[in-house]
Amino acid sequence: MTLRKVNISILIVAVVIFLLVIHHNFLSLSDFLRRELSDPSPLGLQPIDFIPAAPQRLADERNDQEIPVVIAASDERLGGAIAAMNSIYQNTRANVVFHIVTLNDTVDHLRMWLRSPPLKNIRYRILDFDPRVLEGKVQVDPQKADAFKPLTFARFYLPSFVPHAEKVIYVDDDVIVQDDIVELYNNPLKPGHAAAFSDDCDSTSSKVAVRGAGNQYNYIGFLDYKKETIRKLAMKANTCSFNPGVFVANLTEWKLQNITKQLEKWMALNVVEELYSKTLAGSITTPPLLIVFYKQHSSIDPMWNVRHLGSSAGKRYSPQFVEAAKLLHWNGHFKPWGRTASYAEVWEKWYVPDPAGKFNLIRRHSEAYEAK
Ligand SMILES: *[C@@H]1O[C@H](CO)[C@@H](O)[C@H](O)[C@H]1NC(C)=O
Ligand SMILES: *[C@@H]1O[C@H](CO)[C@@H](O)[C@H](O)[C@H]1NC(C)=O
Ligand SMILES: *[C@@H]1O[C@H](CO)[C@@H](O)[C@H](O)[C@H]1NC(C)=O
Repeated sequence: MTLRKVNISILIVAVVIFLLVIHHNFLSLSDFLRRELSDPSPLGLQPIDFIPAAPQRLADERNDQEIPVVIAASDERLGGAIAAMNSIYQNTRANVVFHIVTLNDTVDHLRMWLRSPPLKNIRYRILDFDPRVLEGKVQVDPQKADAFKPLTFARFYLPSFVPHAEKVIYVDDDVIVQDDIVELYNNPLKPGHAAAFSDDCDSTSSKVAVRGAGNQYNYIGFLDYKKETIRKLAMKANTCSFNPGVFVANLTEWKLQNITKQLEKWMALNVVEELYSKTLAGSITTPPLLIVFYKQHSSIDPMWNVRHLGSSAGKRYSPQFVEAAKLLHWNGHFKPWGRTASYAEVWEKWYVPDPAGKFNLIRRHSEAYEAK
């Protein structure tokens, strides 16, 4: 055997190995591409970042099961979402992953804030919501374009944000959680139900709040029963409404029932026929949910949505009750970061100041207020 023949054999072996390596890499690359592409993202949603590696100490202490919590974070009230997430994180031993839905120009600010020391171990994923999905489904008065809040509709699109989870929690940005969120997560859903909400009538909150509130707790407070389309649904007008600011969802059932598509149908119909009641605060997110989930939802413990803390500047609950609440919800006009909030001191315990200095609490005694 000549030297040249040996060289050729070595060369052939080398080429074969080289090809095998290339082939293998190519396979895993195509696997990878397939995985990336198979993620359904009908909204053109971009997961922007994800911090999967919690420090080992925390990972050991915290239970393995992931608890997905979806929250919408808009720039002008980012401090709300921050305080809500901090309260959830500090009060749980579970492995909570936040799916934060926001508009693209808020991403950098949010990410910077989440790097603050008290928040830096929070696991999260930022998702960019494209308001164009709402075109034709929401009537935007050009005079009041600024008042239109696309992110309030994020909750209609839950399966696009967390496509692989079966059960998820959605919370508004004006809440504080005072107990382990696992308890809310474990709230059972009846077979065939895609979500569980806190009803407005039998809740502890409404017993205090209902006085003088008119029809705010019935379907008739949200929907225009003079319209044929609404009457044809044969939903009882005095049916108790529910609060969609805190809920637990079964996304398997949500997808089976095409809940998102049903909600979009009612949004689009409202643009043409004006089906929502105009007598009250004029919520445009609650009515479609009331229709789609009419007699088709489970309940959550009222202590997991103690609400109306923002309906007036006065204090309606005793300090003992506020302390016992598992979740406090400042729905209404008086937000806990605003000037005339009630129970602001409870909320402030969970607030982490904005490192960018853009979001400031407006307090009666603060210099910011005095200067105005
Ligand atoms: C954010 O999205 C809007 C609409 O999709 C687009 O016009 C704008 O350029 C985007 N901004 C950034 C900073 O990416
Ligand atoms: C969610 O719904 C599916 C389909 O009805 C059901 O099989 C499953 O058990 C439900 N999961 C939970 C956690 O309720
Ligand atoms: C949901 O949509 C799919 C596909 O469009 C359809 O086959 C199915 O019947 C729908 N289910 C319900 C409950 O409307």
